[in-house]
Amino acid sequence: MGKKNAIVLLLAVHFLSVFLALSLTNSTDESALLAFKARITFHPNNILAKNWSEGTCVCNWVGVSCNLRHNRVATLNLPNMGLSGTIPKELGNLSFLISFNISNNLFHGHFPNELGHLRRLKSLDLQFNELSGHIPTSIGFLKKLQYMGLSFNNFTGSIPQEIGNLPNLETVYLLNNSISGSIPSTIFNISSLQRIDFSNNRLFGILPVGMCTHLPVLEIFLVSRNQLSGEIPTSLSKCGELRQLELTRNKFTGSIPKAVGNLTKLEELYLSQNSFNGPIPNEISDLVNLKILSIESIGLTGSIPYAIFNISSLQAIGFTNNSLHGTLPTNMCDNLPKLEGLYLSMNQLAGSIKESVHRPNFKPHRATSKH
Ligand SMILES: *[C@@H]1O[C@H](CO)[C@@H](O)[C@H](O)[C@H]1NC(C)=O
Ligand SMILES: *[C@@H]1O[C@H](CO)[C@@H](O)[C@H](O)[C@H]1NC(C)=O
Ligand SMILES: *[C@@H]1O[C@H](CO)[C@@H](O)[C@H](O)[C@H]1NC(C)=O
Ligand SMILES: *[C@@H]1O[C@H](CO)[C@@H](O)[C@H](O)[C@H]1NC(C)=O
Ligand SMILES: *[C@@H]1O[C@H](CO)[C@@H](O)[C@H](O)[C@H]1NC(C)=O
Ligand SMILES: *[C@@H]1O[C@H](CO)[C@@H](O)[C@H](O)[C@H]1NC(C)=O
Ligand SMILES: *[C@@H]1O[C@H](CO)[C@@H](O)[C@H](O)[C@H]1NC(C)=O
Ligand SMILES: *[C@@H]1O[C@H](CO)[C@@H](O)[C@H](O)[C@H]1NC(C)=O
Ligand SMILES: *[C@@H]1O[C@H](CO)[C@@H](O)[C@H](O)[C@H]1NC(C)=O
Ligand SMILES: *[C@@H]1O[C@H](CO)[C@@H](O)[C@H](O)[C@H]1NC(C)=O
Repeated sequence: MGKKNAIVLLLAVHFLSVFLALSLTNSTDESALLAFKARITFHPNNILAKNWSEGTCVCNWVGVSCNLRHNRVATLNLPNMGLSGTIPKELGNLSFLISFNISNNLFHGHFPNELGHLRRLKSLDLQFNELSGHIPTSIGFLKKLQYMGLSFNNFTGSIPQEIGNLPNLETVYLLNNSISGSIPSTIFNISSLQRIDFSNNRLFGILPVGMCTHLPVLEIFLVSRNQLSGEIPTSLSKCGELRQLELTRNKFTGSIPKAVGNLTKLEELYLSQNSFNGPIPNEISDLVNLKILSIESIGLTGSIPYAIFNISSLQAIGFTNNSLHGTLPTNMCDNLPKLEGLYLSMNQLAGSIKESVHRPNFKPHRATSKH
C-alpha cells in the first residue's frame, strides 16, 4: 500500500469515527447540556463558550464523560471553575448520569425537581454555591444515590421525608444551610449511612429513641449548632462504628447516657453548650480511642471519673464551666502523653497538677471553647 493510500485510509477512518461519535451521541443529552450552557452567565476565560461547541461530540466537552456502551453522558463534573448561573430542569434528561459535581462555584437559584429523574445518579455534589429554596421531595427517586452533598448553600425548608427512600445513601452533608424542621425519622432506617453532617442549620425536635437501631456502619454524626432538644437516645450504643459525635450548641437535656461508653471506636466527642445535668458517667473512660473530649458549659455536677486520665490517646480535654468538684490527682498527666489542651476553669476543682515527666513543656491552657 502506497503512502498516499495509507493517508486516505487513515482520513477515512478518522471521519468515520467522528461521524459515528456524533450520530451516536444522544441528542437529548446534547440539548440538556446546551440548556445548561445557556444558563451559565459567567465563566472565566469563556471556557464553556469555546469548548462546548455544537457539532462536536458532547463526550469531548470539558467536564463531560460518556459511558462507552451507550455513548450517553455519564459524568458532568465542573467543580472549582468560578461558574455562575442556575441549574436548568433539562439536566433531568441526562438519564445515564452517574455523577454530577458543580461544587465550589457561584450557582444560585433552585434545585430543580426534575433532577429526581436521574435514576442512575450515584453522586450529587452541589456544595459551596449560593443555591436556595427547598430540597425537592423528588430526591426520594434517586434510588442509586450514595453521596448527597448540599453543604454551604442557603437551602431552606425541611429535609424531605422521602430521603428515607434512598437505600444506598452513605453520605449526606447539609452543613451550613438554613434548613429547619425536625430530622425525618425515616433517615435513621437507611442502614448504609456512614456520614451525616447537619451542623449549623435550624433543625429542632428530638433524636428518636431507636435512632441507632438500624445504623450499623455510621461513623460520623454531626448536628452541632442547631436547636435540637430531648435526651441523647440510649440506643446510641448500637452505633458501634461511630468515630465522631458532635452535638455542640443545641438544647439537649437529661444526663449523658452510660451507653456512650459502648462507642469504643469514638475519637471525637463534642457535647458542649447543652443543658445536661448529672455527673460524667464512669463509662466514658471505656473510650480507649478518644482524642477529643469536649463537655463544656453543660451544667454537669459531681466529680471527674479519674479513669478518664488513663485514656492515653487523649489530645484535648474540655471541662470548662460546669459544676464539677473534687481534688484532681497530682499524677493525672502521667498517662496522657499526647495531651495538648486541658481546660478545667470555671468549676470547683482543687489539687495541684504535677508537670509530667513525659511532657516537660506541658502548660495548662486557659479555657476556650473549641466550637
Ligand atoms: C436519547 O435518549 C432518550 C432517553 O433515553 C430516548 O428517549 C431518545 O430516543 C434518545 N434519542 C436518540 C436520538 O437516540
Ligand atoms: C474541549 O476540551 C477538551 C478537554 O480539555 C479537549 O479535549 C477538546 O478538544 C476541546 N474541544 C474543543 C472544541 O475545544
Ligand atoms: C467534587 O469535586 C471536588 C473538586 O475536585 C472534589 O474535591 C470532591 O470530592 C468532588 N465530589 C465528589 C462527591 O466526588
Ligand atoms: C427535557 O426536559 C425538558 C424540561 O424538563 C422537557 O421540556 C423536554 O421535553 C425534555 N426532552 C428533551 C428531548 O429535551
Ligand atoms: C438564607 O435564606 C434566608 C431565608 O430566605 C434569609 O433570611 C437569609 O438571609 C439567607 N442567608 C444567606 C447567607 O444568604
Ligand atoms: C455559614 O452560614 C452562615 C449563616 O448561618 C453564614 O453567615 C456563613 O457565611 C456560612 N459560612 C460559610 C463558610 O459559608
Ligand atoms: C424503619 O424500618 C422498620 C422495619 O423495616 C419499619 O417497621 C419502620 O416503620 C421504619 N421506620 C421509619 C421511621 O421509617
Ligand atoms: C454496652 O456495654 C455494657 C457494659 O459496659 C454491656 O453490658 C452492653 O451489652 C453493651 N451494649 C451494647 C449494645 O453493646
Ligand atoms: C456556663 O454554662 C452555662 C450553662 O450551664 C451557660 O448558661 C453560661 O452562659 C456559661 N458561661 C460561660 C461564660 O460560658
Ligand atoms: C490507670 O492505669 C494504671 C495502670 O494501668 C492503674 O494502676 C490505675 O489504677 C488506673 N487508674 C484509674 C483511675 O483507673
